[in-house]
Amino acid sequence: MTAETAAQELLTVKDLRVSATRRESQDLHVVDGASFSIAPGERAALVGESGSGKSVTCFSVMGLLAQNLRVSGGSIRWRGNDLATAKREEIRRLRGPEIAMIYQEPLTSLNPLMTIGYQLKEAARRSKVGRREILEMLDRVGFADPRRIMGQRPHELSGGMRQRVMIAMALIGQPKLLLADEPTTALDVTIQSQVLKLMYDLSYEMGTAVLIVSHDLSVVRKLSDTIHVMYAGQVVESGPTDSVLSQPRHPYTRALLSSAPRLGDTRERLESIPGIVPTPDQWDAGCRFRSRCPLATERCAETPPVDVVADRSSACWHVDQLLAEQKEATPL
Ligand SMILES: Nc1ncnc2c1ncn2[C@@H]1O[C@H](COP(=O)(O)OP(=O)(O)OP(=O)(O)O)[C@@H](O)[C@H]1O
Ligand SMILES: [Mg+2]
Repeated sequence: MTAETAAQELLTVKDLRVSATRRESQDLHVVDGASFSIAPGERAALVGESGSGKSVTCFSVMGLLAQNLRVSGGSIRWRGNDLATAKREEIRRLRGPEIAMIYQEPLTSLNPLMTIGYQLKEAARRSKVGRREILEMLDRVGFADPRRIMGQRPHELSGGMRQRVMIAMALIGQPKLLLADEPTTALDVTIQSQVLKLMYDLSYEMGTAVLIVSHDLSVVRKLSDTIHVMYAGQVVESGPTDSVLSQPRHPYTRALLSSAPRLGDTRERLESIPGIVPTPDQWDAGCRFRSRCPLATERCAETPPVDVVADRSSACWHVDQLLAEQKEATPL
């Protein structure tokens, strides 16, 4: 890596492994070999089926893993520091002013007993931001009467309003990275795109990088510069969104694309790829997609090579065949 690329990186996750402690058997790796990086201001997306490890990866970066989970391998480099080995206290200090997260269900991350104002002030305190900025932020996320919202409790607000409060709370400290784990799936379809647009407009104005976790490729296509495709605890393909989606270099990405709902229909989840996702106790050193892959051969039981072409990477033995099939399917 050159000094220039190192300086441009904000977050670099390398070979991340997260293990779950089990009482009566060996630890289970639930993320196992995830690598990707994000540059300042970049809009990245993490996509993949349920259980692939997207949320666990985000929680690892935030230092907020469940009690029975721990980072057991790899590194999470944040502006030169390795968060994988950092003390909890060090990571806690970054949460808010440097890295913020928006969760899928705002009700679980807002305290039901406390007013919105109290919770926003708590978030703002970490970032040394005052009341005037809080009111301004509520105005920016579209509340006509910020003072009134400050006095309300979460259950008095609609789902969309709560998620806008979460956006305000996450961005109040002007973090360098916003992690958004399926931020709109709990919302009514009609306001999903509105809330997403707001999140992206504000983070763009502030120069905040975004990592969005999504099942919805139409969201990713429109909003993200880069895409990282996760399967069974690993990132199997990465690259600029347009090129990954128009010319996938991993059979899993191709399968995701062909099972994606048509543009405009944002409700369906990606779940129609034939076969079953292997569970973490079935993962081995070979390609984990091989049981569902039409291109799989015996060789796929060995660790697939990482194919790197310009700013694209994918882990597959059969990239050439995949590309040849694509060429056949779309003659020039
Ligand atoms: N606290 C935990 N203890 C043990 N296993 C866990 C724990 N949390 C998550 N897992 C397991 O880790 C794997 C990855 O889970 P994760 O929640 O990151 O998936 P995901 O990609 O976010 O899925 P979804 O799209 O459904 O949100 C799954 O197999 C899950 O069962
Ligand atoms: Mg998740």
